Amino acid sequence: MNAITIFSPATVANVSCAFDVMGFAVENAGDRMIFRKTKEKGVRLRMKNFRELPVEPEKNVAGVVALAMLKKADPDFGISIEMEKGILPGSGMGSSGASAGGAAFGVNQLLGEPFDQNELIGFAMLGEALASGVAHADNVAPNLFGGFALVRSTHPLDVIPLPVPDGLSVSLIHPLIEVKTQNARNILKKSILLKDAVTQWGNVAALTAGLFTGDFELIARSMHDGIVEPVRSMLIPKFDELKQAALNAGALGCSISGSGPSVFALSADKETAEKVTRVMYEIYQNIDVPFETFTSGIASSGCRVIHS
Ligand code: HSE
Repeated sequence: MNAITIFSPATVANVSCAFDVMGFAVENAGDRMIFRKTKEKGVRLRMKNFRELPVEPEKNVAGVVALAMLKKADPDFGISIEMEKGILPGSGMGSSGASAGGAAFGVNQLLGEPFDQNELIGFAMLGEALASGVAHADNVAPNLFGGFALVRSTHPLDVIPLPVPDGLSVSLIHPLIEVKTQNARNILKKSILLKDAVTQWGNVAALTAGLFTGDFELIARSMHDGIVEPVRSMLIPKFDELKQAALNAGALGCSISGSGPSVFALSADKETAEKVTRVMYEIYQNIDVPFETFTSGIASSGCRVIHS
C-alpha cells in the first residue's frame, strides 16, 4: 500500500455531563486526508484548505502525531499528508481530534498496522496536547474507533467503547465564531464543590447505563452539566434559547459540543433530530451570526480508508 485516502469523522466531546471522559463520532461530517509513502524520510504536510494552519510537522497537529509514529517505527520511507478539512478549526466538533486521530490511523495503515488501538490513541493525544495544551482523549478515541467512547483514565490509558442505541441521532449548530479549546479551558473553575461533583458523577454513570440499556428516558434525565456548561455557555450567542427550543422540540438533551461554540442535541430518532435542527436554525436565522447546521446519525465506525 503506497497511498490511501481516509475519512476522519467529526466528534462531540463531553456529551454534556461527561467533561473530558466521553465523546461520540458523527456520521456525516469530517475531514479527508491523503497519505503517501515518500522516498525521502520524514513527514511532509500540505493543506488543501485552511492554508493558514502551519505545515511544519512539529507545529501541526497531524504532523506531531506522524513524526512520533515514524520515530518509533523507523521505516525506510517517509510520509506525506495532504489534508482537506471539513471540520472548521475552533468549531468544537473535534477538528484537532480529526487531524490527530486521522494522522494516527493513516500513518499506521501505511506502516502495515504495527500499532494497537491504545497506542494509536496515545499518539493522537500528542496532537491534542499541541492544540490545547492538554492531552485529552474524548475526541480522538471516538474519532478513531467510532460510536461512543468512555475515557476512564488517560494515564494509564483506559478507554471503554459504549454501545450506540438504535435510532439515536444528533443535531448540531455551529456558530461561525472561533472558540479556542485552550481559552475555553482556562475560564473553567479549578475546583468544584463536593455536592456538585456528586450530582455530576451520578449523571455520568446514569448516562453510561442509559447507553448500555438503550433507555432514552434515562439518557434524557442524565444529560445535565452543572459544572462546565454554565461557564462556557456565556461564550455562545443564544445558548439558553437554543437549548430550550431543542428540548421543546423533543430532544433528549442539549449541551455544548466539546469546548464550543457548536451546540449539540441528542434525539431518539432521525425525524426528531431533524426537527430539533430546524428549531435551532430558526433561532440563528434571526441574529447576526453566520452558522451551519448538521443532522446526523452516530458513526458506528471511526477513521476509515475510502480509497487505496
Ligand atoms: N474535553 C475537551 C474540552 C474537548 O471540553 O476541553 C475539547 O474538544
